[in-house]
Amino acid sequence: MRTVIVTGGAGFIGTNFIRHLLEIRPQWRIVNLDALTYAGNAANLADVAARAPSRYRFVRGDIGDEALVRTLLAEETPWAVVNFAAESHVDRSIVGPLAFVETNVLGTARLLLACRRMWEEKGRPADFRFLHVSTDEVFGSLGPAGHFTETTAYDPSSPYSASKAASDHLVRAFQRTYGFPALVTNCSNNYGPFQFPEKLIPLMILNIIEEKELPVYGDGRNVRDWLYVIDHCEALAAVLERGRPGETYNIGGGAERANIDVVHQLCDLLDERLQRGAERSSRRLIRFVTDRPGHDRRYAIDAGKIQRELGWRPRYAFAQALAATVDWYLNHGPWVDSVRSGEYRKWIDRNYGAARDRADTHEID
Ligand code: NAD
Ligand code: TYD
Repeated sequence: MRTVIVTGGAGFIGTNFIRHLLEIRPQWRIVNLDALTYAGNAANLADVAARAPSRYRFVRGDIGDEALVRTLLAEETPWAVVNFAAESHVDRSIVGPLAFVETNVLGTARLLLACRRMWEEKGRPADFRFLHVSTDEVFGSLGPAGHFTETTAYDPSSPYSASKAASDHLVRAFQRTYGFPALVTNCSNNYGPFQFPEKLIPLMILNIIEEKELPVYGDGRNVRDWLYVIDHCEALAAVLERGRPGETYNIGGGAERANIDVVHQLCDLLDERLQRGAERSSRRLIRFVTDRPGHDRRYAIDAGKIQRELGWRPRYAFAQALAATVDWYLNHGPWVDSVRSGEYRKWIDRNYGAARDRADTHEID
């Protein structure tokens, strides 16, 4: 029996990870610490909580609340802590960077302090581990060729990626300075069930269903390296169990796509399912809009290290997993309605409003 504390487990990847881990490790217990920001939804795991109450505990709280985290660590003496908790949307970080510094930098620092303290007090158990889940965006933008490796220099472009870069540095500093057994993963763009519909793929799926405009930033030729969320969860489980503390692992799908090609593919998948003929093709909804400032051109991951050392490789092909994702959103209308709060609607109006002029946006922190 092992207890794992997962932070940010009510968000997109955390929800999928908790479901995955409970399934593959039937002896393990998971404690989910989540502040339930706009992006967190405790109901994502309501069925798990009902089915296996002894194996799943939800605690509402902030990773930056040191007293609460210390109490939780004392109560649970976890074998591991996996940190997903973060502000995660680039566009929001452009409008209001401070929330990103607060959670991603200060929150992570406070979580690290509390975990290190527990680890010291327990006599530095050799098998404890702290897994910090990060992004490939810390590396900045690639030209048409090349891939990010674990030794690529950090060069973040957005307040989001800068705050994640800072958190990665802190995690590594704790490892080097105190010998704290931490691991870092840097993953490419995920897609799949439970993704909040502010990100490209779910936003486009829902707009296509509702026949709303499809806002493509700039020329639509920015490239992302897409990974199905279940593949990411399998990689994280491998790093958690078999990764070497002190190491960093890049995780990527090897599925590079230009944004406009992804949007075209989504239009075609939904036209087929909604029986929209050529004359009503959803592609007519595409609008090229003002580019995101500081928009990274291309991301691509070299996942050679995790493949060689841990034998992980993605199992899902992009076309199939994208179709499964489309079907998930089509079949989960009530989930979509429940996460589209008043706050969500305000964000959509603010970010995509007709009078939008990004040069004029105000800090909202
Ligand atoms: P998400 O925004 O869907 O979920 C974030 C979760 O963290 C939410 O449940 C939210 O309530 C919680 N949270 C936010 N601030 C908190 C705080 N101070 N204390 C406790 N909980 C808090 O994000 P996601 O897409 O699931 O991403 C999870 C992690 O993975 C992030 O650290 C992100 O940087 C990283 N990541 C994401 C992607 C991607 O494509 N989505 C790719 C690589 C890495
Ligand atoms: P996003 O899902 O926000 O992920 P990230 O910025 O972390 O890569 O965006 C993915 C790509 O899609 C990115 O190049 C920006 C672009 N994009 C649009 O063109 N329109 C949109 O409405 C959104 C949300 C993103």
